[in-house]
Amino acid sequence: MCGIIGYTGYREVSAVLIDGLKKLEYRGYDSAGVALQGSEKLVVTKTAGSVDGLKEMLINLADSHLAGIGHTRWATHGRPTEVNAHPHSSCCEDIALIHNGIIENHSSLKKWLSEEAGHVFRSDTDTEVLAHLIEEYYENDLLLAVRKAAAKVKGSYALVVLSAKEPGRMVCARQDSPLIIGLGERENFVASDIPALLAYTKDTIILEDGEFASITKNDVQLYNQEGNIIHKDVFKITWDVESAEKGGYEHFMLKEIMEQPVAVRETLRQRLDMETGEVTLDELDFNQEELANLEKIYILACGTAYHAGLVGKFILEKLAGIPVEVDVASEFRYRDPIINKNQLAIVISQSGETADTLAALRLVKSKGVKVLAITNVVGSSVSREADQVLYTWAGLEIAVASTKAYLSQLAALYLLSLYFADKRSGLANNLAHELAAGLVALPGQLKLLLNDDNLQEIKRYCEKLAKWDRAFFVGRNLDFPVAMEGALKLKEISYIHAEAYAAGELKHGPLALIEEGVPVIAIATQKHILEKTLSNVQEVKARGGDVFMITKKAFAESFKKGEACFYLPDSAEILMPVLSAVVTQLIAYYTAVIRGSSVDKPRNLAKSVTVE
Ligand code: G6P
Repeated sequence: MCGIIGYTGYREVSAVLIDGLKKLEYRGYDSAGVALQGSEKLVVTKTAGSVDGLKEMLINLADSHLAGIGHTRWATHGRPTEVNAHPHSSCCEDIALIHNGIIENHSSLKKWLSEEAGHVFRSDTDTEVLAHLIEEYYENDLLLAVRKAAAKVKGSYALVVLSAKEPGRMVCARQDSPLIIGLGERENFVASDIPALLAYTKDTIILEDGEFASITKNDVQLYNQEGNIIHKDVFKITWDVESAEKGGYEHFMLKEIMEQPVAVRETLRQRLDMETGEVTLDELDFNQEELANLEKIYILACGTAYHAGLVGKFILEKLAGIPVEVDVASEFRYRDPIINKNQLAIVISQSGETADTLAALRLVKSKGVKVLAITNVVGSSVSREADQVLYTWAGLEIAVASTKAYLSQLAALYLLSLYFADKRSGLANNLAHELAAGLVALPGQLKLLLNDDNLQEIKRYCEKLAKWDRAFFVGRNLDFPVAMEGALKLKEISYIHAEAYAAGELKHGPLALIEEGVPVIAIATQKHILEKTLSNVQEVKARGGDVFMITKKAFAESFKKGEACFYLPDSAEILMPVLSAVVTQLIAYYTAVIRGSSVDKPRNLAKSVTVE
């Protein structure tokens, strides 16, 4: 996730920028850069390395700067190289800017700017378009040029811009990406995150979507889209540095759970038309014949990504009619799989660096099978070695237990299923329409699901669960992978021995372990097997098992008043695994907190498993 810091004031500008960037390092980055403004020109320094490396590069620059901007980049468009690092400059190098977010219409803007207005581009980034666009509109008023450029742009941005012709002035804009102004005495700051400015000030102004700011060392002016001055309250930060990094949440895991509506929206953004539900995956280039001849798909992954694959099997088979086999990568690589060229391998990996997933990828490639990667990290080994890549754009995930990356993997798989279905047989079925409409509504539903009342309800249940050392998760059909993921989450962070079972399998063994009070979390969101799951639940209850149901509002009349049920918002049935997974994440989270375990860094586990 990219980080932004900007400063104008009496201190050594480069030192404040480096200090701010160091405070943003926890968010992860692959390259960094600053632009320093003297009285006549802008000097840009960038590196595909660390902030410490950048600091070394700045040592010999004389310090008589009036303002400066600094950025840590987490690659999205274009590889993590020096050229692609921010700040980006206009042709004449008298405008420099840093940007968080994605410019969705960058291709058409770039075409126009280069072919009709003669601008020369240097990088592969979407961001560079902004520098040229602002240059195009610049007539000695940076704010006006930024406003005009913003009006042309589609997408998300937190933007800080300098002009060599307006020394000591920073202009900022925000749309769907956070930007905070820090207020000081004879100095002012701007940053994407509170930790970057907390050492200097606790007085801030939170910029909202569609707002602009002009900042000098003695003045901060705020504007709306029409260019009228607006006034906003000063927000006093009461957090310490540690909680500021977590956005005020107690743990990164909770922060990441709460970020899921945004993470899923980012995965869908630009790929799903939010009005028509149409899916376009420009990054993929399967030809019609290839897809028509596709006999089978292997999904290969580890851990949580494997569970996303299990959901993927259901949806790909249902929508695209292609048989899918899902394998744990560490098993697949040693089992002599029967593979041929008319098959496709999909590898799923948040980090893109998991050793077994990478080995499985190399194995299928060596047999001539094409590989499509679903990953969150641009430039990762998996993304480099796969034939095609579908990025999840979930943003950096810090907690070891994966949450938002998992949901965005699911979102990518839904998109892929619609894409395959469309290419193979058209989308003339109700299921596809229902799914597309459901996806459009999904970010909003996730937001609704994460409301405070629901969090409290789940927390209350966890008070009871936390007293046990064992628990079961059960479900059938699409609910079964969710049960598996729920059990994994609970065991990895609360250390409760949690097992997932296909509900129909209970009587083949685990029922022997059910006695008075044993917690069983049952997931039932699929109408056609609701009665079957409910019979299994009865078997558990008859033996004293304590059942917590995760089900949907539409099924409410199947349950008696007073039964422990969590009702999910109704969505397309095929999409319910996204919603029910959130409840199981919260169950794991609150139970771990109540038990006092190390939520973000569970014992013996690592975020990225780069050894076999
Ligand atoms: C580790 C992490 C899990 C993750 C798994 C696969 O076990 O703790 O959260 O699901 O690796 O990682 P990947 O980066 O390949 O998705």
